Amino acid sequence: MRITDTSDLWWKTAVVYCLDVETFLDWGGNGTGDIAGVVQRIDYLAELGVTCLWLMPFYPTPDRDDGYDITDFYGVDPRLGTHGDFAELVRTARDRGMRVIVDLVVNHTSDRHPWFRAARSSPTSRYRDWYVWSDDPPKNKATDITFPDQETSLWEWDDKAGQYYLHRFYRHQPDLNVANPAVREEIAKVIGFWLQLGVSGFRVDAVPFLIETHHQPTAPRDVPDPHAYLRQLRSFMSRRSGDAILLGEVNLSHVQQRRFIGDEDGDELTMLFDFIGMQNLYLALARSDAGPLTRALESRPHLPDHAQWATFVRNHDELTLDKLTQRQREEVFSAFGPEPEMQIYGRGLRRRVPSMLNGDPRRIRMVYSLLFSLPGTPVLFYGEEIGMGEELSAEGRAAVRTTMQWTAGRNGGFSSAAPSRLAAPTVQGGFGPEHVNVEAQRRDPDSLLSFVTLLIRSYREAPELGWGELEVLDQPHKAVLAHRLTHDGSTTIALHNLAPEPCQVPLRLRDATEDTPLVDQLADGRTNLDAAGRAVIDLDGYGYRWLRVLTPSDRRLV
Ligand code: GLC
Repeated sequence: MRITDTSDLWWKTAVVYCLDVETFLDWGGNGTGDIAGVVQRIDYLAELGVTCLWLMPFYPTPDRDDGYDITDFYGVDPRLGTHGDFAELVRTARDRGMRVIVDLVVNHTSDRHPWFRAARSSPTSRYRDWYVWSDDPPKNKATDITFPDQETSLWEWDDKAGQYYLHRFYRHQPDLNVANPAVREEIAKVIGFWLQLGVSGFRVDAVPFLIETHHQPTAPRDVPDPHAYLRQLRSFMSRRSGDAILLGEVNLSHVQQRRFIGDEDGDELTMLFDFIGMQNLYLALARSDAGPLTRALESRPHLPDHAQWATFVRNHDELTLDKLTQRQREEVFSAFGPEPEMQIYGRGLRRRVPSMLNGDPRRIRMVYSLLFSLPGTPVLFYGEEIGMGEELSAEGRAAVRTTMQWTAGRNGGFSSAAPSRLAAPTVQGGFGPEHVNVEAQRRDPDSLLSFVTLLIRSYREAPELGWGELEVLDQPHKAVLAHRLTHDGSTTIALHNLAPEPCQVPLRLRDATEDTPLVDQLADGRTNLDAAGRAVIDLDGYGYRWLRVLTPSDRRLV
């Protein structure tokens, strides 16, 4: 492949870093993170190798769902900064070679949004039909409820309106009615607005719920086909900004997910989070058996060249295991979150990777090595690079939304405000800032931060990881995933041992010989193959190796 292709389809080899402005760095000293603080840390992110910053919602909000309840899609929450700060952030990031994408949360608004206030106030309001109303809502299934700890229905009676309104999430988040052309126009305007401020695309919240129109009891029968609507959104965005992306949250089966990329041409979402791969990764880890992960990866439907999977091991929500069977979920719970307080919604975990793995550095590194070597575009959640844990005393999903740990000092260097004034809790105990922080790891070549930096560099140097077709290599150990990605003559082979016992992995490569040694990418090392393309690779317990097949014509740096 031409190296220039990696800038053309930049998202296929991007390294995405998700952060919440509120918890990243408080520059103003009032206890809440701010955009000015993110700007101060752009160099840190650039050194790490991040190429795309994903900002969680920073819009005006009553903050009853961590900012996913918005009162102005065009605004910046005054607690976090101004439009001026935002423009400076985008510009500074771009100067360091980093793009910015933002959360697009238009399935719903906050119930305090002026549109909803107007809508509920009168049936003749021009905003009435911006939401989904019903006199007699249908019964919902228990499985339709996203937050079963707080909600029992998708419909909420509104005294003011004298009708029920639809809310896919919390009752304070009424769903917008995308069957209404005025709503669709407004959503396009929102997209256009942030593109104009320089963003490179959107992480699109709750896509299946956003585009669904069947809940609209009063809608005309010709409500638009949901996927036609997604195509419209994509094409609008691409007209405004040719290389902008839509990274969609679509937690469905692989087969159902494929539809959200669009037919052969892929004219809907650009990228999909691989929720199925993520959930099966945890099952594989729990069993020390690569099988579930292998099967999940092999079940990924084929995507058009310009589309991509986004891989992740943690995000800002519960670590959902909803697509596993009940028994599989129990296995993961008992391995990584046996206490009820570690679990949430009956389907997920509110823990981070290092604590789930009991702080075992070999296993933690193996998981991140796996993340960066899987086919796709890796997405990190802030703090993963240093091995932050969770704070279980915080409520619900807030356990993993703690303040970023910069130093061993007060508030982990997040803020100079009194600890009682912080916008989010700081982790206490063994994973707290005294033991886990950026400052201590920055100059330590053996730290997790240095290791993740190496992983990112190695990932960036091997575009076949983002572009190649997956091939799982035959070998005898069920705890081992040996996979290979080849694109245009370049090959990386990755081996991961999900079990604590060391092992030797015999490999046979059909297209390699004694002239094409395997060169280690994460350490020094070179393995020669025999004439039949065979070699035996040593793997430590929880070991990992990335091997480049060095062909005589390969002129890449090794
Ligand atoms: C998405 C977000 C989640 C939020 C929900 C409602 O699932 O990831 O954090 O609560 O949408 O907006």
